[in-house]
Amino acid sequence: MKEIIAFINQKGGVGKTTSVAGVAAGLQRKGFKTLLIDMDPQGNLSYISQADSSRPGSLELLLRKSSLGDAIRQTPQGDLIAASQGLAAEGILSDTGKEYRLREALEGLGDTYDFILIDCPPSLGILAINALTAATGIVIPVQADVLSLQALGQFSRTLEAVRRYTNQGLKLYGILLTRYSSRTVLSQEVFQMIEATAGQLGTKVFKTPIREAIVVKEAQAARTDIFTHAPKSNAAQDFESVTAELLKDLGSK
Ligand SMILES: Nc1ncnc2c1ncn2[C@@H]1O[C@H](COP(=O)(O)OP(=O)(O)OP(=O)(O)O)[C@@H](O)[C@H]1O
Ligand SMILES: [Mg+2]
Repeated sequence: MKEIIAFINQKGGVGKTTSVAGVAAGLQRKGFKTLLIDMDPQGNLSYISQADSSRPGSLELLLRKSSLGDAIRQTPQGDLIAASQGLAAEGILSDTGKEYRLREALEGLGDTYDFILIDCPPSLGILAINALTAATGIVIPVQADVLSLQALGQFSRTLEAVRRYTNQGLKLYGILLTRYSSRTVLSQEVFQMIEATAGQLGTKVFKTPIREAIVVKEAQAARTDIFTHAPKSNAAQDFESVTAELLKDLGSK
């Protein structure tokens, strides 16, 4: 099995990077081999994974300036293709077929990995489109607020275009509620809106929200994964549940 999952939402700060890292660690604990790809020039995932930043990264790969072998680094968080810092991506890829560069590059991997998880930037530019074109499916991290949901209207139009032009079979695995705080009394209305949005997109909301927890930030500061940093924490439990739900949906456990 090889699933390529893009974590995407053009809204910033909704927990994309945190979710990629948490789900990747969850999958590794179950014995799956993962490859992480940091498509965000901010390089947050590369940083928290302790990736060596002197080597070629995802943009060099897209521009065919690096081979897959040179771009993949070993990190404490598993194999990773890091962000290419200092390179502005937009406008660089102007050739015909520019949407397919990542998909093409990953074809060389064969069945080396069980899961490839892609961390997307907070925009719907060419880097995100490359991720959506290469992916078999997507997870949409959202915070439970109205503004976070508003972004999904625009996203659904991008999704439609990607399915029409570059990746017909792209699946939507679900909306993942992140940074959830039980102290915030969420109105029934917001929950209903999230469910309704999921329905409109033809998907579901993952049963377990990822709770807001200081240990998440601590793990990132220590550049380690949540299961190593705080194995008994709520956040570790939440990521374990979400990973299990994803695997169940994919029919692999
Ligand atoms: N469950 C959580 N508990 C506490 N803090 C969290 C949690 N999830 C995310 N954060 C924090 O929220 C901030 C944004 O999270 P993250 O970087 O994962 O979002 P993002 O969608 O990848 O952002 P960007 O759009 O900038 O790439 C970070 O500072 C992160 O540490
Ligand atoms: Mg991010």
